[in-house]
Amino acid sequence: RRSNVPEGVKFPPRVGHYIPFVGSAIEFGASPITFLHECYKTYGPVFTFKMMGMDCTYVIGSEASALMFNSKNDDLNAESVYASLTVPVFGKGVAYDIDAKEFGEQKRISKAGLTINRFQEYVPMIEEETTKYLQRWGNEGKTDLFKCMAELVIMTASRCLLGREVRALLDESVADLYHDLDGGFTPAAWLLPGWLPLPSFRTRDRAHIKLKKVFTDIIGERRRTQKEKAEGESEGTDMMWTFMNTPYRNGQLMTDDQVAGMCIALLLAGQHTSSTTASWAGFYMCHDKRLQDRARAEVLDTVGEHTTPTFEDLKELTFLDNTIRETLRLRPPIMTMMRTVQTPQQLMGYTIPIGGYVCASPTVNHLLEDAWGPDNMDFNPDRFEGMRTDKADELTRDASATPGKGKFSYVPFGAGRHRCIGEMFAYTQIKTIWTTMLREFELSRDSLPDIDYTTMIHTPKDPWVYYKRREAHKQAPGA
Ligand code: HEM
Repeated sequence: RRSNVPEGVKFPPRVGHYIPFVGSAIEFGASPITFLHECYKTYGPVFTFKMMGMDCTYVIGSEASALMFNSKNDDLNAESVYASLTVPVFGKGVAYDIDAKEFGEQKRISKAGLTINRFQEYVPMIEEETTKYLQRWGNEGKTDLFKCMAELVIMTASRCLLGREVRALLDESVADLYHDLDGGFTPAAWLLPGWLPLPSFRTRDRAHIKLKKVFTDIIGERRRTQKEKAEGESEGTDMMWTFMNTPYRNGQLMTDDQVAGMCIALLLAGQHTSSTTASWAGFYMCHDKRLQDRARAEVLDTVGEHTTPTFEDLKELTFLDNTIRETLRLRPPIMTMMRTVQTPQQLMGYTIPIGGYVCASPTVNHLLEDAWGPDNMDFNPDRFEGMRTDKADELTRDASATPGKGKFSYVPFGAGRHRCIGEMFAYTQIKTIWTTMLREFELSRDSLPDIDYTTMIHTPKDPWVYYKRREAHKQAPGA
């Protein structure tokens, strides 16, 4: 207990550790979910531990995590946690580089481009890209599903969100730039000062400059012609166009540099999150043939064997939807959301002092037996059946539509002022990719992959699957 603590103030229980400064970092790093569950059992829903010199206070379960999700940015602050990681990648003038109010405006502008009309245009684009991609596969073989999903997600997102010009360049130099930039999303980049002359930082910074130039050239060209040249697509269906032409409330437009930064930000915000989700959903379906057969039967009933799906068709694919929801329950890509404590916080009789982090974990909230019952560890998409509300076809799903107990028992997309704006795009993308995949291929794998906890987003280890092209989609020999 601190000596200068005022009378009556009680801090959250502290997890013991052996090595000063390092604190619990080793145990946490080795198996974060087990560590957090053990702490929850021992200390209850609020506890603090030391990690590399910082106090991390976890708020576990729906009731405790309400502290984070209902908070104001001035009290529990996001940009002071995320800026070191994101600013070198997205650039200046966007997202966590600016004050929360302006970023709020940039999110509002983004939402203006993430509409049902746009999604109706995106679905056929995603199907076309996926079909073309899958032509590379033979009639049967073994493939890295995680790599495949990462490639499909970047290609389809680039095509839909950034337009044809960027998609066309993706087959050339841009793919390498994305890769190098993406290499900047590491724990080292978050924890170490950006001025350190690390090779990975230099690669990231060079890629950022080059990618910005590619994007600002395209923006400049578009501004000159003031219309998209792509045939067959109506004018301005992508986010780059939205950012270029939607003003802030004061009437000003974003600069070209900000437009390029927002394009990078949206693309990368969805890259690992969506590709990891698409992969894990695939592994659950490969591993349990019954799930795959059900999802495929639903696709054939709703869309048919060869027809291009529509956005309206996707809404009918409720089993596939529930499979993705359940995947996001058991394997949410964002394991922890963090904020710095700017003003003392009161929670459950404890005071959380200024200076440390408050952390909430979807992964832990999604697994708690108190909220999810005794089958909490089972993969059961049907638990979400009937959870759809009449808001289901709106862009923001009803946060209370969860079979878990408590408003924040299911938070794969966060909640409150920092809630994800990409949920509907992610579902549209993942469902279209899997609609195409399930029709064309039978996939199999004996066991679920283990989880790699060393990556920022928990990815599958050894991500191989076997595939067999279905009769109706067989390629002619030599094709
Ligand atoms: C915020 C998850 C896809 C853009 C968030 C947050 C989570 C999340 C948990 C809250 C972070 C926090 O509170 O600290 C996911 C998952 C996705 C996904 C699981 C896919 C399965 C996307 C996509 C986009 C996107 C596709 C863009 C099109 C954003 C943005 C924020 C956000 C702009 C706001 C950050 C803020 O206000 O601080 N996402 N995301 N996400 N996400 Fe997503």
